Amino acid sequence: MSLKEEIRDSIKRPQHVAIIMDGNGRWAKKKGYIRSIGHENGVDALRNIATASAEANIKYLTVYAFSSENWNRPKAEVKALMSILVSSLKKELKTLQDNKIRLRAIGDSLSLPHNCQRELAEVMELTKDNDHMTLTLALSYGSREEIKLAVQKLAREVAAGERTVESIDEEVISKALYTDFLPDPDLLIRTSDEYRISNYLLWQIAYSELYFTPKLWPDFGAEDFYEAILSYMNRERRFGKTTEQIKSLS
Ligand code: FPP
Repeated sequence: MSLKEEIRDSIKRPQHVAIIMDGNGRWAKKKGYIRSIGHENGVDALRNIATASAEANIKYLTVYAFSSENWNRPKAEVKALMSILVSSLKKELKTLQDNKIRLRAIGDSLSLPHNCQRELAEVMELTKDNDHMTLTLALSYGSREEIKLAVQKLAREVAAGERTVESIDEEVISKALYTDFLPDPDLLIRTSDEYRISNYLLWQIAYSELYFTPKLWPDFGAEDFYEAILSYMNRERRFGKTTEQIKSLS
């Protein structure tokens, strides 16, 4: 049985995988290319992983495509990334439709250039009924900003008398985040030998398993992705309980 089939047929496979796609710049530098070539190859890797994910019946894939801090990169690189984003959205529609993938986005979408917003809205609309997998792009995304906005929203509702302070529980907070349509990630993967979370899904990864790999993102392929998932499936998730408690529940 191939790794893909093993994952696809297992009840232990993750429902939601989140990825920090890191290392495009280093990949390009190693090969003597400009950074934007690294990002273009990063899109190829993303297409491979999204397809691999759909084929293994993973329901949700959420990728960090552009952080709120990435706006501080050199203007030319930001421009190149936005232009790659627009052209990829146009080009990848067929991949999304063929694999029945719904596209969503989280983050401060209004800060994106107008043509990105338009293209994104169009692809999200065209794929909204695809029910095999949801691919979520974190774009102009920052977790602390997301939490700040949720706190402001709930505080406003309390001030307006629409809810009580006591009604704010973990579920209400989860539903006030950008990710209200997603379950929490089971597995978070970061490529390129960096061991940071970088302001990504801080609330949502409370109980996620973490997987780090030295592979640079453009080199990260389907087999690497399946290896990461297999590693997750072989771990025991205890959610604060003991091994004995977990065993008696199953
Ligand atoms: C990190 O590599 C990657 C990014 C900042 C962008 C990730 C984007 C894609 C894979 C393409 C899809 C998304 C868009 C917006 C077109 P890095 O540049 O930080 O690499 P380095 O750490 O080696 O410099």
